[in-house]
Amino acid sequence: MEVIIKSSYEEMSKTSAQIIAREIKKKHDLVLGLATGDTPLGTYKELVRLHKEEGLDFSKVKTFNLDEYIGLDPLDKNSYNHFMWENLFKHVNINSENVYVPQGNTDDPEEFCSWYEKKIEETGGIDLQILGIGGDGHIAFNEPGSSFASRTRVKALVKQTIEDNSRFFDTEEDVPRFAITMGVGSILDAKKIILIANGKNKAAVCAEFIEGPITSQITASALQLHTLATVVLDDEASSKLKRKEYYNWVRDNKQTVQKRIGR
Ligand code: GLP
Repeated sequence: MEVIIKSSYEEMSKTSAQIIAREIKKKHDLVLGLATGDTPLGTYKELVRLHKEEGLDFSKVKTFNLDEYIGLDPLDKNSYNHFMWENLFKHVNINSENVYVPQGNTDDPEEFCSWYEKKIEETGGIDLQILGIGGDGHIAFNEPGSSFASRTRVKALVKQTIEDNSRFFDTEEDVPRFAITMGVGSILDAKKIILIANGKNKAAVCAEFIEGPITSQITASALQLHTLATVVLDDEASSKLKRKEYYNWVRDNKQTVQKRIGR
């Protein structure tokens, strides 16, 4: 896992947006896996700027979102579909037919989940997956205990996630108890992965998933099994890492390191 530590949220966001932009420029029909939450807001803002000011072209890009609350209409202001349109899609030249977000109000969630998996496969699989991390170490909505082989499915949210995400809803009771989420196995199939995290409240869980043992109790630790996973943190989120000096050495000697390992 490559660990990149930046001085601020803004710098973290710029770095992750640059990584995404680089991949889009290399492959115009990139298949991009997208995440929601506060963390990627700065990254999406920077992607919008790159589109508006530097012509970053989304016209052939396909996107698959990680997850969606069950029971919410796609137009509901708390749905992840709405979040994505408000914060990214409507500001760039993406083709709406190339946008996939799990459908929270489907009549048949199980059938929808198999369809979603098939659709990802038909496009050739996700080239670059963007992830955030929940307070309990989850990626997407893969709560502690999720199998590393899991695929897109319905998942019951844990109490901490319901509390954490209640800030977006009027009351905690309004937070849906279930979600459709890509599985850990679906995520690990992506060719490249980038996880972003910021803030003091993510420091302990970041140290655990990066430097602790691989465990389904912290599903982000599954990234240790991936060959091309990059983690971009701000200074606060990196504050509990033990091997910071090494990650920074790699950063400062990146060109030499890249020449040797070809990344
Ligand atoms: C939700 C999403 C995750 C996201 C997490 C963290 O639970 N399902 O994909 O990573 O929230 O959100 P935030 O970035 O707001 O801390």
